[in-house]
Amino acid sequence: MSSFKPLVFSGVQPTGNLHLGNYLGALRNFVALQASHDCIYCVVDMHSLTATLVHDDLVDQTRSITAAFLASGIDPKKHIVFNQSRVPQHAELAWIFNCVARIGWMNRMTQFKDKAGKDRENASLGLLAYPSLMAADILVYRATHVPVGDDQKQHLELTRDIAQKFNNDFSARIAELGYGTEMKVGEEVVNGFFPLTEPLIEGPATRVMSLRDGTKKMSKSDPSDLARINLTDDADAIARKIKKAKTDPEPLPSELQGLENRPEAQNLVGIYAALAECSREDVIAEFGGQQFSVFKPALAELAVEKLSPIAAEMRRIQADPAYIDGILRDGGERAGALAEETMKKVHEIVGLLTN
Ligand code: AMP
Ligand code: TRP
Repeated sequence: MSSFKPLVFSGVQPTGNLHLGNYLGALRNFVALQASHDCIYCVVDMHSLTATLVHDDLVDQTRSITAAFLASGIDPKKHIVFNQSRVPQHAELAWIFNCVARIGWMNRMTQFKDKAGKDRENASLGLLAYPSLMAADILVYRATHVPVGDDQKQHLELTRDIAQKFNNDFSARIAELGYGTEMKVGEEVVNGFFPLTEPLIEGPATRVMSLRDGTKKMSKSDPSDLARINLTDDADAIARKIKKAKTDPEPLPSELQGLENRPEAQNLVGIYAALAECSREDVIAEFGGQQFSVFKPALAELAVEKLSPIAAEMRRIQADPAYIDGILRDGGERAGALAEETMKKVHEIVGLLTN
């Protein structure tokens, strides 16, 4: 069976500061996957227009996310790093996918419901169609694996639905043109143009919670800066935020089950495990029975040890915007060549006049 070549794609929006959740849920996995896969990592600047159209710092933010990619250990020579808007085929394929996907599918997305709030009629059409562009980001490279945090799971299921409907709707044409690749769907072997992408949601920190409320996700848009640890926070800020992190009055339990219904304790233990690259059981074995007054300083020290070299490297890279722009230009050219190949075939499959 000739199957799709394994290829990793992921994207991060250039809006707001990157935080510990982005690092543990996404970036760190991006770095690890480079050893086993070809990878494409994208700063999705066009996605940032969906919630707010006018930004005064999109260019700086794009450079800052790129610097975070590089500082974390992504190699832009062996792999591809670029910003989405440089490769117009993303938007072009998103248009085709807007015609494949159904409005009902989009209306069900929890991220859309959260971001649109009560006044849905007044949300941008781009916010509704956001997952179409995300599917296009991935499928314009026919990527097979997508590392993300837990919050993106629903969008990746929709990406599979879009690929599957395209493959079905155009199955005759795909076969006629010989553009199909065999893949297993359940027990069946089917022939399709787009792969059914696998999400990679892995590690002990796929959903890092707010330091102020263990039931809410740590987020770039939380109005309280105390809720998150930014990748660029200095040692004092990290220590202060962990010291102020909400907890309950009990000491840490001596068994993992004791963390149930203690969301803040669970979150801090998960963060420690992820940073120390050990299991939550290991953390409990070391700190079970201890007060937060002992655990928090240990966590702060570990966080500073792991994050401050990244922050320092980010500052060094950001001091040279021309270098960053050069990386994005080079990545954009290589990505563009791949995307163009896919889009030529898509035009033929869909039946647009191509000669
Ligand atoms: P965003 O900042 O929404 O562009 O997200 C970039 C990446 O970070 C995506 O893969 C998200 O799933 C991941 N991510 C965002 N917030 C968190 C969080 N609190 N915990 C774990 N992963 C996260
Ligand atoms: N929606 C993702 C987020 O908010 C960002 C994103 C856009 C993305 N396109 C993607 C992630 C493609 C993975 C693959 O985090």
